[in-house]
Amino acid sequence: MASQAQPDLHPSGPAHGARHVAIIMDGNGRWAKKRLLPRIAGHRAGVQAVRRVARAARELGLECLTLYAFSSENWKRPAHEVADLMALLRHFIQSDLDEFHANDVRLRVIGNYQVLDPSLVTLIEGAVSRTAGNSGPIVAIALNYGAQDELVRVAQALAQKAVDRVIAPDRIGIEDIDRALYTADLPPLDLLIRTSGEQRLSNFMLWQAAYAELYFTETLWPDFDETMLAQALDAFRLRDRRFGGL
Ligand code: IPE
Ligand code: IPE
Ligand code: MG
Repeated sequence: MASQAQPDLHPSGPAHGARHVAIIMDGNGRWAKKRLLPRIAGHRAGVQAVRRVARAARELGLECLTLYAFSSENWKRPAHEVADLMALLRHFIQSDLDEFHANDVRLRVIGNYQVLDPSLVTLIEGAVSRTAGNSGPIVAIALNYGAQDELVRVAQALAQKAVDRVIAPDRIGIEDIDRALYTADLPPLDLLIRTSGEQRLSNFMLWQAAYAELYFTETLWPDFDETMLAQALDAFRLRDRRFGGL
């Protein structure tokens, strides 16, 4: 069933000017530790923060919100934590898909999610296809995502095209790489937020972040909310993006 048409809250674009915001949602474990709770309690509270920012995306006029949920390096964690995270993800899609759809959100997944449990892959693909025809903001979840892995795939795809003589190696340009990334049909990345005080990219969107503005906050992810997202966008609005020019 098609979702209801939603009023356009920002007919001439939002004042902050950001189209695509990505968030490295970090600090769930420390949030739990501070409360003497198991790490899974922090991840559960983190899901609540995901709900808050996903709801805020439309009000703030974003075209795309990308959320780093599980990195290609997070498999190094104890098996029970990985299992807890996968169970939370499954539960989140099952419980929130109706709301995403009702709010006209287009759900997307970036990363090598196909290697996850087959029933989870089916659930993800069902959610993505159910919301594909919506016209509201894209909420892209980065799952088993690693930027280096993404770039290796791009290299492999372009090398294969060269072998097949579809493209000449010396004609490969920036656009060819853009088009082969998981993010090919997402708007360019404007703002990259990381919570919990860590100041590193942890293998997230290395290519896409070339000229993104970076915003670091000490807030642990489960404490992050729509007001803090709005604050980050206020800070973004005041940045002078020169892209190498004057
Ligand atoms: C982020 O929180 C969530 C994931 C990486 C899945 P962490 O689990 O990394 O929390 P900290 O960094 O240990 O506090
Ligand atoms: C980055 O956080 C990955 C996600 C938020 C999903 P990590 O907690 O895995 O990053 P490091 O290990 O501190 O760099
Ligand atoms: Mg962490």
